[in-house]
Amino acid sequence: MKLENKVALVTGSSQGIGQAIAIRLAYEGASVVINYRSHPEGAEETLKKVQELSGKCYLAQCPKVGATIQADLSSVSEAQELVRESIEQFGKLDILVNNAGIEKNEDFLDVSEADYDKVLDVNLKGVFFTIQAFVKHLKETNRPGKVINISSVHEELPFPHFTSYCASKGGLRMMMRNLAIKLAPLGITVNNVAPGAIATPINKDLLNDQEKLSAVLKNIPLGRLGKPEDVAGLVAFLASPDADYVTGSTYYVDGGLLWNYQEQ
Ligand code: BGC
Repeated sequence: MKLENKVALVTGSSQGIGQAIAIRLAYEGASVVINYRSHPEGAEETLKKVQELSGKCYLAQCPKVGATIQADLSSVSEAQELVRESIEQFGKLDILVNNAGIEKNEDFLDVSEADYDKVLDVNLKGVFFTIQAFVKHLKETNRPGKVINISSVHEELPFPHFTSYCASKGGLRMMMRNLAIKLAPLGITVNNVAPGAIATPINKDLLNDQEKLSAVLKNIPLGRLGKPEDVAGLVAFLASPDADYVTGSTYYVDGGLLWNYQEQ
């Protein structure tokens, strides 16, 4: 197992991509902190799967393999508290997966300040300060670590009606690049994973609209929506020692969507 004795914090892991990541990291041997904002039942479901997967409890000693912690990452103090509580419960953190994210489908002229703040606070400010708290811990304990941000093809590709979302993901791209340089001397790698259209709750409107869905599928060279597990596999690689020399880049998991330019 590639992640034995590692502790990972996965934000927003009560459903969708975050849930699949938490489960996959546990499968690779990590202990996992499952963060949620408003779905405790989803977080418990993730925890149950993590516990089922972990072989550790068959050993004489039964170390903690997972825990759920509530925190709304749009609040800097809650993000800091999440990191603090994770360390208190598990003794340390090695891997941070910034997965929690929201989007709002809205015409540019209708976007209110509150809508804008909501998206940017979770997708960008929350990530910034969660990484900051994580890095302070690694520095204090003099250990390397891995930061993986779940971004989007829309850190690169325009997405009309989702301008605040695109602004947050474009910002996340530059945050990752800066921190990869800044944190490399500490042995901390920073990368983005950028999913395309994945079948998850964030896409429920799309999944329920046959017409829209077939239009999207036409743009995906591999001809299907992604599964949360497609994303989780790449995250597990980036979190593992196999990726020790990998930092400062974005890795797309999009079935070819991003570069599928076609003349009509
Ligand atoms: C968004 C989805 C969208 C997908 C592909 C993702 O970042 O969250 O709503 O379907 O990109 O456009």
